[in-house]
Amino acid sequence: MRADLLSDTLTRPTAAMRDAMARAEVGDDVFGEDPTVRALEERVADLLGHEAGLFAPTGSLANQLGLRLHVAPGQELVADQMAHVLRAELGAAAAFSGITSRSWPSERGLLDPAGPMSLVTTGVGPYQVETALVVVENTHNFGGGTVQPIGAIREVRAATSPLGVAMHLDGARLWNAHVASGVALRDYGAEFDTVSVCLSKGLGAPVGSVLVGSAEAMAQARVWRKRYGAGMRQVGILAAAGLHALDHHVERLADDHARAARFAAACAQAAPSAVDASTVETNIVVLDVGAVGWDAPAFVAALLEQGVRTYAVGPGRVRAVWHLDVDDAGTGAAVDAATTLLRSRTP
Ligand SMILES: Cc1ncc(COP(=O)(O)O)c(C=O)c1O
Repeated sequence: MRADLLSDTLTRPTAAMRDAMARAEVGDDVFGEDPTVRALEERVADLLGHEAGLFAPTGSLANQLGLRLHVAPGQELVADQMAHVLRAELGAAAAFSGITSRSWPSERGLLDPAGPMSLVTTGVGPYQVETALVVVENTHNFGGGTVQPIGAIREVRAATSPLGVAMHLDGARLWNAHVASGVALRDYGAEFDTVSVCLSKGLGAPVGSVLVGSAEAMAQARVWRKRYGAGMRQVGILAAAGLHALDHHVERLADDHARAARFAAACAQAAPSAVDASTVETNIVVLDVGAVGWDAPAFVAALLEQGVRTYAVGPGRVRAVWHLDVDDAGTGAAVDAATTLLRSRTP
């Protein structure tokens, strides 16, 4: 493989990360006795300005624990139509928590406060579903790594807070948003009741997410985590990977962003209708190959023949994601392969 751009979840732990994992002090985390897990939970909570954190094996579980804290069975959450919690968590909010959902349309997943505010419904008695939660995804995965403007987030918070509607941030890639925008993690954290972040995407840890919120909410989430069968024992070996990633792999996300921007600029030059390079803000590029007459699975297959792996996120849309294991040479290979294919269909 010359460049594996399928996902930033593909990263393998570096030698230094493995070393940190091997040296981790551990205990039984179900009894709250793993010092490395506690250190990670406290560190992430502090970074995001929240009281407490809870380690979870996956981003999906961290999100689902967050959702069920805020939404009672039969109430609803609202999120944009491409949100990971709606499209890629396999209906977990409905299947496990009895949550109904509605979505607003969005361009690139970008938050426009009018979207959620057109849906939020409260105080309507026994006739309509009560909205209990707004979910925001930052950066936006299927939207193409879109960074949510802090001003828009604050506007939604200011409008929903007096209505008693909570906000959850799916911050699987909040690190990327922070590095790209320069907005402090705490400033993002301040606008949400709960935040989930992933250590296993661009940060390069093999496993792990953290949910943060109030101490009371995290105590409840801890019960639900155990109920779901995700109470883990000497899991400090995994938390150590997360702590190592926080020490060494956050600022370097800027390298992934620069490589993604290089790829997007080259593709925009080859086929201007396939991508607007000015919208590529982080490590994800979504090409509208349909706009130049390609079917996404065929484009993905043709790239793969040249050793470049990508992912079809829609009938005409192909996603490429940069991460720790893709260097400048890999990026060059991806540029050559994708621009050749795009040019082959561009008049
Ligand atoms: C935005 C977003 N949220 C949540 C998740 C879920 O993470 P996991 O795969 O660890 O369950 C992902 C995974 O790619 C994601 O992109």
